[in-house]
Parts: sequence; C-alpha cells; structure tokens
Amino acid sequence: MIKFAKNRLIDTHQRPINYLRISITDRCNLRCLYCNPEAKARKLEHREILRYEELLRIIRIGVSMGITKVRVTGGEPLVRKGCCDFLKQIAKIEGIEDLALTTNGVLLKDHIDRIADAGVKRLNISMDTLDPEKYARITGSDVFERVWDGILSAHQKGISPIKINMVVLAGINDEELIDFAKLSLDYPFHFRFIEYMPIGRSIDLNTPPILLPAIKSRIEAIGELIPLQKNIHDGPAARFRFRDSRGEIGFISPVSRHFCAACNRLRVTADGHILSCLLSNITEDIKTPIRAGFLDEALREVFFNATRRKPLQRPVQISPLSQTEQMISIGG
Ligand code: 5AD
Ligand code: SF4
Repeated sequence: MIKFAKNRLIDTHQRPINYLRISITDRCNLRCLYCNPEAKARKLEHREILRYEELLRIIRIGVSMGITKVRVTGGEPLVRKGCCDFLKQIAKIEGIEDLALTTNGVLLKDHIDRIADAGVKRLNISMDTLDPEKYARITGSDVFERVWDGILSAHQKGISPIKINMVVLAGINDEELIDFAKLSLDYPFHFRFIEYMPIGRSIDLNTPPILLPAIKSRIEAIGELIPLQKNIHDGPAARFRFRDSRGEIGFISPVSRHFCAACNRLRVTADGHILSCLLSNITEDIKTPIRAGFLDEALREVFFNATRRKPLQRPVQISPLSQTEQMISIGG
C-alpha cells in the first residue's frame, strides 16, 4: 500500500479520486432547454476531439493512479461512431470495477445489445417529462416513446441500476414530480430529481428555481421517504425509497447544497482537458502532451496537477458562460 501511495490521486483536501467521467463528444441529437436549446455552442472540429486510443491511454494512466470507475458521457455519447467498441475496450482494462454510461436514450434501443455485451453496468438516462408533447418541447424532438422503449430494453437486458434523471424546471415540468416519484413504486429504476442550474446556454426560466427542500416536500406527500445507505460508487445523490417500492428516489442538489466534501471525480472534456471541478474553469490540457509524444510519467503529472487544483468547494457564484459554455462537451 505505502509503496504505491505516492502514485495515488489524493487531493489537497484528502479526497481520494477514483472516478473519471469522460465526455467523448460535444455533439448531441437533442436540444434540451437547460443545455443547448439553440444549438449555438461552437462545435468542436474532428481533430480537436480526443481519439479513442488517446482516451484509452488516459484511462489506463488514471487506473494506474487509483481510478476504478469510469463514466462515458457527451454531448450524447451514442452519436459518436464506435462508442460501443470503446466501451468494450474500457471494460477490458484491468482495474476498472465499474463502467457507466450517461445517455439521452434516443439511440439506446438500437445499441442496447452491444452496450450490455460491452460490460456497462450502470446507465443514466435523461427523461424530464412523461408527456410526449412536452418532451418534444423540452428536447426539440418528438421521440419520447423511443426513449421509453430504450429504457425498457435496457431493463430487459438486465442493466442495473437504471437511473432516470429529471431536471426540475419551474413552470415546465414541476407538476410532474409526483407522477415521476410514483413510478418508483412499480419500476425498479432510480428516479433522480436534479435542481436546475442556470448556467451555460440554458434558457432563462424567468422564475425562481425549485430547490431541493421544495422538491422533497412535494414528493413526501405520497408517503414517507426512507433514507438509504450510501455506498462507495454513489454519486452526489441523496437516496431514498418508499415502503414497498421497487425503485428508488434520488435528489441531486448542485444549487442549494454542496456535496463537494465527498467529491471523488475528475472529468475529461471532449477537447482533451482534465477538469478539476464541474463548476469551475480549472482545467489541465492533456491533449497537447499526448500529441507531442510525452511519456506516461508526464501525463501522470497532468493528472496530479488537476487533482492538486481541485477546489474544496465549487465556486459560490456559478460562472454564467465561460466554461459552462462547454457544458455540452462536459456531460454534466
Ligand atoms: N441543470 C441541471 N442539470 C443539467 N444537466 C445538463 N444541463 C443541466 C442543467 N443546466 C444534466 C441533465 C442531463 C445530464 C447529462 O446533465 O440531468 O441528464
Ligand atoms: Fe443533449 Fe444531454 Fe444536453 Fe440534452 S442535456 S441537449 S440530451 S447533451
């Protein structure tokens, strides 16, 4: 243990880093109101995006320093050609204990066999409404049924847990909180309610955001929420269930409550930077040294620097545009 301790990623606040989130593309086949509604974000050029071999090298180096969990995100990761093969290659890396995918679900049904075969265990899917017409309004595409079919096909394939992410948008989908929560009685999925972050290119809702205490108390009208024990691969969600429910309820509160104390992650952006904290501009360029032919030791140094620079907490003020302009290339 001690022999390898100096190679471990531990930040200056004593948080061990074992989780790498990798955005493989800034492209997306939806235009969610809270992300990229007008498709105005500058699109990265092909050569700016890390190649799969480069990403695999980054992951291997991360694993040699204590990374055990990888999540692949986008944009929408399934729009990038070769995504399922890439997932399979990640799963083969010795030391990877947990491989997860975040998707909007549009292409899920088409790819589910290969996703499951690749060894993906966990799936996060965005689904902000149960009303197909509203879904089209929020995402710009009339594909609700397709996404729901994708979720069911993932379930049939035995993928678990399946987490369904709902961003709570005041005046748009908040009257559906109870309907979503009730689904957890019948479906073995985790329904997660996320506070809307007014950042990047998201729309101005012109109304105060609905924060966790209000979300939770509205859901508690259905029944008592029983808290669940956290485990090491849990993210920032506070987890609950109703008595006799098959699924779970989760709350993610990036706005009202800092969950930074337990932060265990670094992010790799599609354009080849390691991002120390989602809501900061602190990045380390890893693409330039990779393409300049640097040895692993130098790339490890990039990881160390990104880890060392992790802030104790996210900035109090969420920066309105700068890095968050790239939200679509970070993947939440
Ligand atoms: N506020 C809250 N969550 C967001 N996501 C993307 N943009 C925002 C935002 N402005 C989350 C969504 C999506 C995931 C990829 O990132 O939950 O499912
Ligand atoms: Fe695409 Fe996800 Fe952004 Fe929606 S939130 S536009 S699905 S990247």
